[in-house]
Amino acid sequence: MSTILVTGGAGYVGSHVVKELLRQNHRPIVYDNLQTGHKEAVNDAILIEADLSDQEKLRETFHSYPIDAVMHFAADCLVGESVKEPLKYFNNNVKNSIQLLEMAYEFGIKNFIFSSSAAVYGEPEKIPISEDHPCLPTNPYGETKWIFEKVLKGFQDLGRMNYISLRYFNAAGADPEGDLGEDHLPETHLIPIVLRAALNGGVVPIYGVDYDTPDGTCVRDYIHVTDLAQAHILALKHLERGGNSGIYNLGNGNGFSVKEVIETAKRVTGKEIAQIGSGRRPGDPARLVASSEKIRRELKWAPAYPDLETIVETAWQWHRKHPNGYEKS
Ligand code: UFG
Repeated sequence: MSTILVTGGAGYVGSHVVKELLRQNHRPIVYDNLQTGHKEAVNDAILIEADLSDQEKLRETFHSYPIDAVMHFAADCLVGESVKEPLKYFNNNVKNSIQLLEMAYEFGIKNFIFSSSAAVYGEPEKIPISEDHPCLPTNPYGETKWIFEKVLKGFQDLGRMNYISLRYFNAAGADPEGDLGEDHLPETHLIPIVLRAALNGGVVPIYGVDYDTPDGTCVRDYIHVTDLAQAHILALKHLERGGNSGIYNLGNGNGFSVKEVIETAKRVTGKEIAQIGSGRRPGDPARLVASSEKIRRELKWAPAYPDLETIVETAWQWHRKHPNGYEKS
């Protein structure tokens, strides 16, 4: 059993990881300001409600628990907002993350798992994208993830920390047991927006219908959030047994267009979903599809829910049961 400090553990991906840590008899200590996370999502884990910038609270947390490793999810993660408010992103995602890393080092922690993003790549030169693809982020959010990866590498070069950075493609779906789901305010992600339209009516805007893709809409690689959670557990085990630091992509290697996602949601829900072609969203690459060969090979990761239909189905089950999200369900 390990004690893991999970920053952002009440958020969408973090909470699914916390559930898996608990299931495997680890002790997650969730550190979350609940700005976008949900108290209801942390199950029986200890929850410390505080901001990552709160050095005193962070220090107290490291003092209070025998923390073995850190999993760092807490971040601002809206691409559009990052373009408008870049300093907010550099402060939270870079400065606060560096402070966390330094404190972890001060308390003798050796293993750090970081929630990174496909946004580090920017507009890809080739598909599928492997980890050695150049990183040219096209928005401040992606920049911050890329910068912190370099900070981690610097720490590792000095022998101060071992780390795994996981570059997620499009996290989607919900806990197959129905306990956890995706609940953002505002919601900007495609699948929850489409499912809410199926539930409550409304029209889904398609951001860009003139991309250089088969049907003109953006193509993404959707990965089930529980498969992401499993990757974190494998990364933890890998570091605990003395494995090398590294960076890994996480996707299924299949690209689906916005229109294909809407069609899949229509099949899964049995409902009509209205859609309307709209302008492009700034900063959106046309196609993002991962090669996850490295994590399959080195950490033996294998997704349990690789097909889009299942991903949408699990999300649909959660949205049906929680039409107003966590709080008001
Ligand atoms: N989209 C629509 N209509 C909507 C919402 C989204 O057409 O109402 C489109 C987007 O333009 C995009 C696709 O659906 O082409 C997927 O959009 P999401 O917002 O669900 O996801 P993104 O691909 O924008 O974002 C993901 C991660 C980010 C990461 C980014 C990298 O959620 O954390 O990939 O580009 F930064």
